[in-house]
Amino acid sequence: MTLHKSTETAGMTGMNGSNGMTGTVGATGHADTACAETTDRIVEDYLTLVDDSMVAVLPHALRIAVELGIADMMNALTPQSVATTADLVGADPDALSRLLSALAAAGFFTGDPATGFRLTARGARLRRDHPHSLSASLVNAESQLAWLRAADSFRTGAASFGTGDEDGEAAAGGFFGVKDNRRAENLAFLRRMRERTGRLYRQAAETVDWSPSSVILDIGGADGFLLGGILSAAPHASGILFDRPTVIDEVNRRGGVPGCRTVPGDFFVAVPTGADTHLLCSVLHDWTDEQSVDILRSSRRALAPGGRLLVIEMLVPEDGSPHISRWSDLGMMVLTGGRERDRAGFTRILHAAGYQVSRVLEIPDSPFSVIEAH
Ligand SMILES: C[S@@+](CC[C@H](N)C(=O)[O-])C[C@H]1O[C@@H](n2cnc3c(N)ncnc32)[C@H](O)[C@@H]1O
Repeated sequence: MTLHKSTETAGMTGMNGSNGMTGTVGATGHADTACAETTDRIVEDYLTLVDDSMVAVLPHALRIAVELGIADMMNALTPQSVATTADLVGADPDALSRLLSALAAAGFFTGDPATGFRLTARGARLRRDHPHSLSASLVNAESQLAWLRAADSFRTGAASFGTGDEDGEAAAGGFFGVKDNRRAENLAFLRRMRERTGRLYRQAAETVDWSPSSVILDIGGADGFLLGGILSAAPHASGILFDRPTVIDEVNRRGGVPGCRTVPGDFFVAVPTGADTHLLCSVLHDWTDEQSVDILRSSRRALAPGGRLLVIEMLVPEDGSPHISRWSDLGMMVLTGGRERDRAGFTRILHAAGYQVSRVLEIPDSPFSVIEAH
């Protein structure tokens, strides 16, 4: 069974910035050869903001630009006066002018208060309708709230999400249980997942060879955005979209996913039988090793004989180099109690559930990989 366009790979390279370990000139001005530091652009930019005690301002400025819908009311061709934009989004003109000036200097807009502003390619990603929109992620208040309490995660090793919430009962279900009780949060989550999948790994649909697959089960497939893309690339196959009942209700309300059966359930209990290909995309990183093995065992029990499992996740590089997965690892700990893993970590949990890794495929232009197991 093959994954085409495949280069068998032993690990991951970083998507952002350099992977190299380089000696740097430290604050003292001396070349620091005793303790080589990594260069990571995210860290460099962050430290510049810390230097000016402005660390929180950029994320908040971007969030507010999205909340006000500024980019949705502008275009890339014609400069729009601050007064018109203020009128369209319901903002104070002076406050908006200052926000646009700061975000223009950061490359999201171009222009000035006298001539007006228009969107840049970067700023267009603040629009809700952009194919690689960042809008749902930038307004992700639940993650920001969890991080305010996150020191507890590092004391206890458990997720901080939902702790200290005024609505203690609703928050008791953890990251996903809360969404079962609060429809608006469930819908915001599904929008975030769709954006993130589109930005980071939807091209998996064109990367994998689907010719051996007849029935593809997406376990924890959210609103079916990825599975829909896969079925377009593999029109001979049919799909089963499996997720929490409150997610499947939303999908059905929108008319489902073409070529797909939708099935609600709990992957800790069982997943549907009848598929020869199982997908687990960005699911295992939400859970501890023990919980992940339980999910993988549910898959193993249901997979058709001779079938394959495809796990789409980031692989933490084993060489200590910078990679977005290192930040995501902390994010998972705080939000869900889960973790990111290196190749050995995935091999271990897959093996514990009765799976053997057959190959790992890097997804082009993505920090994600496809791990194929039988
Ligand atoms: C991080 S999201 C990934 C979504 C999707 N696979 C993607 O790549 O965009 C994890 C998914 O697991 C689903 N999920 C969480 N707990 C579940 C459970 N016990 N049973 C079934 N699905 C669950 C969530 O609703 C969510 O859609």
